[in-house]
Parts: sequence; C-alpha cells; structure tokens
Amino acid sequence: MRAPDPLAVGVPRDDRRALERSLAASLGSAREARWILDDAFESAGRVAEREAAASARRLARRRAAGEPLQYVLGHWPFRDLDLLVDERAFIPRPETEWVTDVALAELDRLLALGAPPTVVDLGTGTGAIALAIAVERGARNVEVIATDRDPAALELAAANRERVAGRHGDIGVVQFRIGSWWEALAAGEIGRISLAVSNPPYVDQGEWAGLDPVVRDHEPHDALVSPPGSDGTPGFGAIEAVLSGAVGRLARPGALVIELAPAQAEAALSTALGSGSIEATVLDDLTGRPRALVARFE
Ligand SMILES: C[S@@+](CC[C@H](N)C(=O)[O-])C[C@H]1O[C@@H](n2cnc3c(N)ncnc32)[C@H](O)[C@@H]1O
Repeated sequence: MRAPDPLAVGVPRDDRRALERSLAASLGSAREARWILDDAFESAGRVAEREAAASARRLARRRAAGEPLQYVLGHWPFRDLDLLVDERAFIPRPETEWVTDVALAELDRLLALGAPPTVVDLGTGTGAIALAIAVERGARNVEVIATDRDPAALELAAANRERVAGRHGDIGVVQFRIGSWWEALAAGEIGRISLAVSNPPYVDQGEWAGLDPVVRDHEPHDALVSPPGSDGTPGFGAIEAVLSGAVGRLARPGALVIELAPAQAEAALSTALGSGSIEATVLDDLTGRPRALVARFE
C-alpha cells in the first residue's frame, strides 16, 4: 500500500484558523488577513493548500512591510472588472469608479445626439476607465483609445485588456497610444472623439512628503504629482494641459470629464470656460466633495 501523500491532506481547518489569527496579529487587521488567505487559497486545490499557506505568509510579510494590499494581491476590483495591479501603475480608486459613472452618463447623452462612438481615456494607468467603458458600452459599438506617457503603465494596461477580454468576452476595440496627453493621438483621430475622460495627476509636489508612505513609497510619483497651474493652483498643471488641449481635438458635440481635487474646482471651471467650453460644471462625489469636472463643447 502506498503511503499517503502528506501534501494531499491539505491544511486542516484548525491550522488555517491558527494561520489566520497569526497573520491578523502581524498585520493588525483581521480583514486584511482573511483577504490575503482567501486569495492565496482560492485557486489552490487540496494538494496545493500547504503551498497556499506558505504563499499567504509571504504576502502578509510584504503587506506588513508597508506595500499596498492591492500590489500584494496583484489584482483589484474596479467596477465590474478584476484588474491586474502592480508598481507599474497607479492603483485605481473608488472615486474614479464614480467618475466613470459621470463619463458614461455624458457618453450616453452624446450618443443619443448622434455623436461618433469614440472615447479617449487620457492617462489610462492600468486601463481601468478605458476597459470599464469598453465592457459597459461595447454593445453600443463604442471604441476606446487609451493613452499614457509611461510605457510600463501601458504594458500593464495591455495585459489587462487581455484579461478583461478573456473574462468578459468581446469588449470591442480598445487601442493604446503612448505620448503626452492629446499628443498621443494620431492626426486622423483628431475631431472624431466625442468624449474624453481623464484622471490625471493632481497632487502638488509640496504634498508629496506628507502622503501616506503606503502610497508615497510604492505608487509611481508621476502618476500622482503634477506641477501647479499657470495661475498657481497647486497640482493643477496636468488638468490644465488636458483642458486646454480639448478645444481643437474634440468632435462637436463633445465633452470632457476630468477627476480633480476639491480645492481645484474653481480653477477648473474658469479654465474650462476660458478654453472654449460652453458649459462647465463640477459635480460632487458620493462623499459630497467636488470631484468631477464636466466640460461640454458644442
Ligand atoms: C492618477 S493616474 C490615473 C490612472 C488611471 N486613469 C486610473 O484612474 O486609475 C494618472 C496617469 O496619468 C499618466 N500621466 C502622467 N503624466 C502624463 C502625461 N503628460 N501624458 C499622459 N499621461 C500622463 C500617469 O502615467 C498615470 O498613469
């Protein structure tokens, strides 16, 4: 008779509870310990459970050393998507899930007016906004062009396009372009984009040192920090660049949706109206703070 494979017995339930308690103590968070354990065990069959326990310990060590939970797990939800996340790109935030709602509402309004179904996501990072729009409006033939200046972020966004297509089926056309803001677009694309959406960097360099080290020491500096605007508004330079480039590039009717920091709302409204927008509004997010500029060009 063959001896039982010691790994085939998996990790007894009591051992798993003990491991969970010990990870919770080292992380100071029962919720994060459960998260890491569930993730490590999710794809493991019984034979692999001991390896999953070792992997959970390794992940918890990285988290305890200060890495963001999202990078430790290597994937994170954004709306209906489960995106790969790592140090190549900014971690998509809940505020941006809400900004995507604002962008989808603008897109639906424009499509109802017969506008071309082309959207651009400027500064796409993991591809979060672009891929969410492609999945949620692909059935309406929407095409998305996603741009970034950072080739590493675009590499991750391309891996996410494959992952999302594998899980959500036909997601329509999502193309990537490298370059600074509007300059990434090809000449033929100018004038046929109805909606531009962007979550650009909007943290001022002066705030960088005071950021939570989980963010400051791991997420890409250039994804977060922007120079001041031309009027001196802290962290407003990138938003200003996106806004001032819209007028010559958007189709008519067209619209631009930009995520911003609450203190930038006034500068955003006056820059939008001074850059050819006929109607500009800043909407409050779900916590009641000014968060999304909607600038219409028609
Ligand atoms: C705050 S992150 C947002 C990423 C993603 N859209 C999201 O919401 O998760 C800003 C992104 O803008 C990109 N970026 C910064 N400066 C840029 C520029 N001049 N042109 C294009 N992209 C830029 C960064 O590489 C980064 O991916």
